[in-house]
Order: sequence, then structure tokens, then C-alpha cells
Amino acid sequence: MDRRIPLLLAIAVLTFAACRKDEDPAEETGQTPLTLNIPSFITDSGHVAHVEFGNPITVEGVALGRTLFYEKALSDNYSMSCGSCHVQANGFTDPREFSIGTDGSVGERNAMQVINMAFDEHFFWDGRRHSLEGQAHDPVTNMIEMRNTWPVVVQRLQAHDTYPGLFKKAFGTTTIDSDLVVMAIAQFERTLLSFNSPFDRYFYLGQANAMNDQEIRGMDVFMRDGHCVDCHKNPFFNDHGLRNNGLDMISADPGFGGISGNAADVGKFKVPTLRNIAHTGPYMHDSRFATLEQVVNFYAHNVQVDNPHIDAHMDPWRFGLVNLTPEQEADLVAFLNALTDEGFLTNPTFSDPH
Ligand code: HEC
Ligand code: HEC
Repeated sequence: MDRRIPLLLAIAVLTFAACRKDEDPAEETGQTPLTLNIPSFITDSGHVAHVEFGNPITVEGVALGRTLFYEKALSDNYSMSCGSCHVQANGFTDPREFSIGTDGSVGERNAMQVINMAFDEHFFWDGRRHSLEGQAHDPVTNMIEMRNTWPVVVQRLQAHDTYPGLFKKAFGTTTIDSDLVVMAIAQFERTLLSFNSPFDRYFYLGQANAMNDQEIRGMDVFMRDGHCVDCHKNPFFNDHGLRNNGLDMISADPGFGGISGNAADVGKFKVPTLRNIAHTGPYMHDSRFATLEQVVNFYAHNVQVDNPHIDAHMDPWRFGLVNLTPEQEADLVAFLNALTDEGFLTNPTFSDPH
């Protein structure tokens, strides 16, 4: 495999921090550090990417992680990879309402976007995992997903023609185990950075023509009358919180309440990013909305303000302060469409290498 990952983003997302010390393949033990090149408007505002202690990002680790992310041998019957439910063109989410396991069983939650994960602190709709490494353990053995066991995965990779060599390059050992698999996948996921939408070019880079008049009006609604930014905070369009946005009076899915065991947490879900949102439908943890018009209509008219556990950031709704006109609703949808980063959705660096 070509170790040189093509770096083709409109704004370069990745740069090599050090020269590759090449030539003798026997010497290669994954020591080529790779620095995430994050735009200055992110770093200047004090945001720091989390890199797990003991799992520094390397060129070789990312290349291996990318191959594993798209590796169907991770699933029991070789039918499914992570990329089957996290589709690049859809912002690394699943266009289906619910993901379907290798045996056809149907889950109860919409697959989540895997975007800008390097900045996140907890994972899954209910926030139950606290690192990408921990998260990546779960789908392999999940009975409504890949339905496999780790010993089987490790044995398949160990017996494979190329994987032992790729692990050697990435981690300096040909002895594969589940920890190294999830470490490589997490390294790849941390490179999935998306910060080049029309909004970014208008708002952060000062390109006045990057958004049209309706999108600019929609941005004002988002940041003022609509109170969306109170939770979907730029630059990530989330606030890394678990919150109850008043979808229901009684939540069928307990969300974070199912993890904490605390009644006040029932109906709290991870605030999702809205980057690339035009491509990541259907929407909400249970895919109840098919379109952004329906989502905006919910926030404009159907918030369940009497839910006893509704988030404090929904107070503007409780106090009757959010009254959007039909024009404002349309403008808001236009703005959400301006959060698409086309270069990210089509970046060959992130595609299936198999
Ligand atoms: C069968 C479909 C399916 C497969 C296969 C799958 N996922 Fe997921 N993924 C989901 C669903 C559904 C969720 C949300 C589940 C929940 O919240 O309970 C999710 C959530 C995630 C999240 C959390 C994102 C966030 O914002 O918190 C990450 C990261 C992720 N998956 C990565 C992976 C990786 C890595 C693999 C392969 C090892 C994988 N997924 C395989 C369906 C899938
Ligand atoms: C209290 C914090 C909060 C506020 C304020 C808020 N949201 Fe949300 N938003 C959430 C949470 C939490 C979810 C996920 C809820 C779920 O799936 O159960 C969500 C989900 C969404 C989704 C679906 C994302 C996906 O990936 O499925 C969109 C779109 C959205 N919000 C847009 C908006 C807009 C537009 C506004 C302003 C009118 C707004 N939000 C105001 C917290 C908030």
C-alpha cells in the first residue's frame, strides 16, 4: 500500500509534522508523527483536539485505521464494515432510519455522524463511552451490528496476507490484538475533520460572497431569535453536552437516563453537530424527521415545553420567546444547508481503500 496519504483538501486538513524516514521497509515501525492541521479559527478560540494518552497519531496508524474502518472481516459474515453504517457521502452517518445488523436485525437509533470526533468527550447518543478507542470496541460485538467476537476478528487479521505487516508499520509488532485494532481506527477517526463550509468561509475567513442573503438571514435567526446556537455552538455546532430538547412529553428511549439511572436524565441525548447536516438525515436519535423543514417546524411549533426534564437552554421556548415566522423558518433551513463541507464529503483520503 502507498504510505503517502494524499492530502488534497481545499484547506489542508492534515500535514506531516516530520519528514518520513523512509527507504528501508524493515525499519518501519510507525514513527512518522502526523499532526492534525486544524484551522487557526479553531485553535485561536482555545479548542484543543484530544489525543488519547498512549495513542499518538502516526501516518502508518491512520493508514491502518482507514483500512480497518472499511474492513468487512470485522463482521461475523464478512458483510459489513464500520463504513457500511457510516457513509462518507452522508457525513459518515447512515441514510437509513435505523442501521441493520449482519443478520437483518434492526436497531433503534440512527447511526451518528463521525465528524470532528477529535474534539468530543463522550460518544453515542447517550454518551456512554468516553474515548474513541472505547467506542470502537462496541460495534464488533453488538448483536444488532457486526455480531462478531474479538478473538475471531484477531485471528482473521493475524492470518491475513497484509495486516501483520501493516500492524508492524503502525505499532512495531506483528502480534495483533483488539486494543491495537481500536487504536488504529481511533487514529483514523481523529483525522475526519470538517471545517470548510460556506459558513466557515463567510464567518471565519471573511469571504463576503460565501453565503447568499437568505443564508445570512438564516444565520441571524440561528444565533438570535431561534436560540439554536445556545446548544449547537459554533465552531462545532454542538456544545459536547447531553441535553433534553423537548422532543416528547415522555421519552420512549431514556437516553442518558438509561446510563445514569437518574430520572432527571431521561430524554437527554448528545447534542449532535449540525455540520454537513443537509446530508445526514434522517434526523434525531430515532430518525423521526426526514427533512430539515420538519426539524425546524418542530423547533418552531412543537417543542414539549412541559416536559419536566427539559433543558434550561430551552427556557426561551418555555417563556414563549421563540416565535419564528414562516420566512424565518425557511431562512433557517437555508442556513443549515450552508453548513455543508463538500470537500470533506468527497475527500479521497477518507474513502474506502479496499
Ligand atoms: C450496523 C450499523 C453500524 C456499524 C456496523 C457501526 N456503527 Fe457506529 N454507530 C451506529 C449507531 C446506530 C450509532 C449510535 C448508537 C447509539 O447511540 O446507541 C453509532 C455510533 C457511533 C459513534 C459515536 C459518534 C458520536 O458522535 O458519539 C462512533 C464514533 C461510531 N459509531 C464509530 C463506529 C466504528 C469505528 C465502527 C466499526 C468498528 C462502527 N461505528 C460500526 C451504527 C453502526
Ligand atoms: C437545549 C439545546 C438545544 C437547542 C436550543 C436546540 N437544539 Fe437542536 N438538538 C439538540 C439535541 C439534544 C438534539 C438531539 C435530540 C435527539 O435526537 O433526541 C438536537 C437535534 C437537532 C437536529 C438533528 C440532528 C441530527 O443529526 O439528527 C437538528 C437539525 C437541530 N437539532 C437543529 C436545531 C435548530 C435549527 C435549533 C434552533 C431552532 C436547535 N436545534 C436548538 C439540542 C438543542
